[in-house]
Amino acid sequence: MKTTKLSFRLAPRFFLLLVPALLAARVGTARAQERPLYLDDQQPVAARVNDLLPRLTLAEKISLVHANSNFSTAGVPRLGIPELIMDDGPLGVREEVDNHFHALGHVDDFSTALPGALGLAATWDTNTARLFGTVIGQEAVQRGKDIMLGPAVNIQRTPLCGRNFEYMGEDPFLTSRMAVNYIEGEQAQGVSSCVKHFAANSQEFERGSINEIIDERTLREIYLPAFRAAVQEAGVLSVMSAYNQINGQYCSENAHLLKDILKSDWGFKGLVMSDWGAVHQTDLTVFNGLDIEMGTHPPYESNYLAAPFLEGLNSGKYPVSALDAMVRRHLYVMFKLNLIYDPSHPPAAKPEPTTPLSTKAHQEIARQIAEESFVLLKNNNFLPLDATRVKTIAVIGGNAAAKFCHAGGSANIKAPFEVTPLAGIIDYVGNRAKIVFAEGYYPPGDWGAPGPKPDGRKSTAADSRKLADQAVTVAKSADVVIYVGGLNHKNGFDCEGNDRKSLELPAGQDKLLTRIVRANPRTVVVLIGGGAVEMDKSWLSRVPALLYAWYPGMEGGNALARVLFGDVNPSGKLPCTFPQRLADTPAAALNAYPGEKGTVVYKEGLLVGYRWYDTKGIEPLFPFGYGLSYTRFAYTNLDLVQNGGATGLPLTVGFEIANIGDRAGAEVAEVYVQPVHPGVFRPVKELKGFAKVFLQPGEKQRVAVTLDQNAFAYYDVGTRSWVSEKGEYKILVGRSSRDIPLTGDFHLAQTIYRADRVAQMAQSAR
Ligand code: BGC
Repeated sequence: MKTTKLSFRLAPRFFLLLVPALLAARVGTARAQERPLYLDDQQPVAARVNDLLPRLTLAEKISLVHANSNFSTAGVPRLGIPELIMDDGPLGVREEVDNHFHALGHVDDFSTALPGALGLAATWDTNTARLFGTVIGQEAVQRGKDIMLGPAVNIQRTPLCGRNFEYMGEDPFLTSRMAVNYIEGEQAQGVSSCVKHFAANSQEFERGSINEIIDERTLREIYLPAFRAAVQEAGVLSVMSAYNQINGQYCSENAHLLKDILKSDWGFKGLVMSDWGAVHQTDLTVFNGLDIEMGTHPPYESNYLAAPFLEGLNSGKYPVSALDAMVRRHLYVMFKLNLIYDPSHPPAAKPEPTTPLSTKAHQEIARQIAEESFVLLKNNNFLPLDATRVKTIAVIGGNAAAKFCHAGGSANIKAPFEVTPLAGIIDYVGNRAKIVFAEGYYPPGDWGAPGPKPDGRKSTAADSRKLADQAVTVAKSADVVIYVGGLNHKNGFDCEGNDRKSLELPAGQDKLLTRIVRANPRTVVVLIGGGAVEMDKSWLSRVPALLYAWYPGMEGGNALARVLFGDVNPSGKLPCTFPQRLADTPAAALNAYPGEKGTVVYKEGLLVGYRWYDTKGIEPLFPFGYGLSYTRFAYTNLDLVQNGGATGLPLTVGFEIANIGDRAGAEVAEVYVQPVHPGVFRPVKELKGFAKVFLQPGEKQRVAVTLDQNAFAYYDVGTRSWVSEKGEYKILVGRSSRDIPLTGDFHLAQTIYRADRVAQMAQSAR
């Protein structure tokens, strides 16, 4: 008989449900006949919560506010409250693990491994973000999950952060748009998203203790907007508090974050759970806004929100109202998800799925997202390749034959298969050309240790030289070289728990590339990784084509082949700046990373990513928002139309984009707002809208992006409000943050103040 996770999980769960049900049936009193109000789904959720709450004993309530396994809280079967089942994560539904994260080895917990979320952000396509969430949501429902732990929306403060591949880049507006659509797609399937990590988990170095000093305006303008959008626009039902401290208080115990901002200013009604093991004490946790303590190990009774909480309640140290406030939110989410059932009629156990959870249709979506995410950074008329016009293709590089989905930390996915770049290229080319593979370098192990040889033994410097020599020979004899290198998910690269130490390409790839490009200048470089790397000019200036492929998910190899050979025209744009060198990045330039003695001061303030490079006039290697296509696009006829009364807002930014090349393709048009004479310090420009259009060769389309008052606002700490200051603004429309073909002027006639509470983010890009 097939042993499955579902049968394991459902059997004890429903056996427990059955016992109280049978007891209740035996009692058979008139009281049992009365249908309690909370079971009436015609009643408002608040009334149902009010009715159910007093029926719980103190111990039962306590059981709802802390973990009862790695990914669940306890249920109260006598009242029809099931366990709340969670799972990672942001890039697909994680495999089943035990309480110590050891894989259980089930046979039905494979799922679709989508590309990393930084790649998703590189699509700049809100429909794609919605599809991304939809796929995860659908598979989560089939796997019996209630809350999915994602999306992860922390802002990329430094390209070194080990989890950047899970996040959505350096810009709060782009991240917000992608997150809202992801969450709406996922929650429409009947599961809750859990937006994480609230807030500013922007470095993994000492993440469990680091005290981040961040000024209030920077928090509100840079690190919080995606969370606010998740709450106020997407109606996210749960939020995960981060590991780090902000301004001296751990995020799970941070009254300002959880109470003042999340619950009060933004009116969040759902529940806040801690990151795994991110609670440090009972007192502050009880009073400062956390609702569920997660990530602990057995015995769960000793959790901060278990026995110590109960003791404090019994002794009068804590008011029961503090516990009730947490339980109310737990029940609210359960009612919203339709989880509460009539205990006298427990739901039948779900039948085991008979079809694979990762369907062909979902895998195709994974492939399309990957295709749309690739960013063409350089192309001297070299790509796309023509498979019928080359006799020998050399595929070189350790990442060509590597797999990535089942690694990187909690975002790892057990995919039913993963198509490597090499496999994708071989499959695509078929017998049209000969393919020769040379590894070129041993993919690095943890902390950059020399990767092992194929027989598992440690590689020496001599082995590496031999491998590189072989690759150079192979490159010489080929018509075309496809080099696939970059980073991987080993510790110290793109992996939860640590950051990169440098932006260098590991395993001597700069040197190897220089040799390969010299040996054969007909080389395309494909880099896989979670963001910027430094690129040595000695190969970069010579190489005719460069493509950034992020972590492309289970269908990555197929997607790559289709882009390289021109079935798909690349349309991705960078969601993060690629600097020339680490020293140019704001946190490094200001010596403000990774911190000293447990504290890191966000000295650059608002100047994160392109806000820094553009305000300071530092030339990046590739700017934010940049990406080429196999065709070209012309921007013309900018027209600003004011729609409102006294303020002129909302403002419609209209312009035309024409495809002036000879291939169909998609273009992302970016709209930046630049205050001309601001009364307060402002970054030189900020992204406030974008649109993606698909055009046939010769086709022209009029595009309209709407800017409302949010597009002009800064956060005023004194009045705790968003201020859209009257005055002059430039409206910049461009292909990237540094390629602005159209500029218009807008005069905002009067200052607008708005409290955060009623804030609505711009709807233009939804
Ligand atoms: C990560 C979270 C994840 C949780 C559960 C933590 O270490 O920071 O993102 O959801 O583990 O796996």
